[in-house]
Amino acid sequence: MDVEKNVLKKINFQSMGISNPLLSWFDTNKRALPFRENNKPYNVWISEVMLQQTKVDTVIPYFNEWIKKFPNIKAVADASEESILKSWEGLGYYSRCRNFHRAAKIIVKEYNSIIPDTWDEFRSLPGVGDYTAGAVLSIAFNKNYVAIDGNVKRVMARLTKRRKLSKYNQNYIKSTLNKHIDKNRPGDFNQALMELGACVCLPKKPKCDECPINGICLGYKNGIPTNYPMTSVKKQIPLQIYVGGIIKFEKKFLIQKRDGKMLNGLWEIPMKKITRKSNHIEYFKKYIFNKYGYKIKFKKIISEIEHAYSHFKMKLIVMDFIQIDDIIGVGTSFSWISKSDIDNYAFHKANHKVFKLFNNSNWDV
Ligand code: ADE
Repeated sequence: MDVEKNVLKKINFQSMGISNPLLSWFDTNKRALPFRENNKPYNVWISEVMLQQTKVDTVIPYFNEWIKKFPNIKAVADASEESILKSWEGLGYYSRCRNFHRAAKIIVKEYNSIIPDTWDEFRSLPGVGDYTAGAVLSIAFNKNYVAIDGNVKRVMARLTKRRKLSKYNQNYIKSTLNKHIDKNRPGDFNQALMELGACVCLPKKPKCDECPINGICLGYKNGIPTNYPMTSVKKQIPLQIYVGGIIKFEKKFLIQKRDGKMLNGLWEIPMKKITRKSNHIEYFKKYIFNKYGYKIKFKKIISEIEHAYSHFKMKLIVMDFIQIDDIIGVGTSFSWISKSDIDNYAFHKANHKVFKLFNNSNWDV
């Protein structure tokens, strides 16, 4: 009997279109978002890049400012990395921004500044994965490609009653969407599913009463849609301890530019991960001496700040030092700046927490 029921449910789902009710719902319920004001490939692309791992509300002001500052792909290609990172400052996942910059340069050089509209060409650009390619090609060029982000996965897992997001089930979701995508409005179809996930089919408290496709949702019929997909047990993220210093010389302090995988190109006060439980102050002094040749004198510990990244939690012990050698050289990866210069550099978020201390500080910079 149960087997029979399942077969019936499957047939029901396959035979009923999701696109009509979904698109009607989207037409009346979609949020008015700045990147929906037009479907220019450039605008759609940069918005989709910003929206990866980031909430719509966070993206809106960044998108508006970005379009003002860089109205087209040529403006991005011509800009310095410093300036594009400054516009991205605080949005996180900075490799998205650096990849977009690289892609813009390729488009200007190899495609005469015209964003390519074929899967192979667009998908081969730096930072463009299946999701971004599907979203941009469908929304901006009306091409029949699906765009499956986290929201869409959840909606589809519930609709098709899939508990595990295994490779097999993800392929099943993809092929189901490919079957159901609206061939006339593929971009709206993709956005409608994302919108449904963001506004109705919520992770913890889905508003199933408001869902335009609840009639064919197997998770809803089953009574407990939140069972789909099952949530994985969150991994404990490790704590990493850093020491950092405000190193002063007269009215200036030292900053350095990051060079490496994480937060590459962003600026920060000198900081270093503690690898051993040794004397923080001596460890940091040694680090500065080896890196810059400066002899610094410890004044006091200012504060501790915490910041959570996706894969670790950071504790930063912020200390106050003075540079006692009377020299402040210049370099491309470090600089001596005053408080009023802060706006001219792109700093990462943890560092901005340090700067916040400036405002209520009992110490002077
Ligand atoms: N998330 C990512 N892209 C989106 C879009 N185009 N609409 C709504 N949410 C999104």
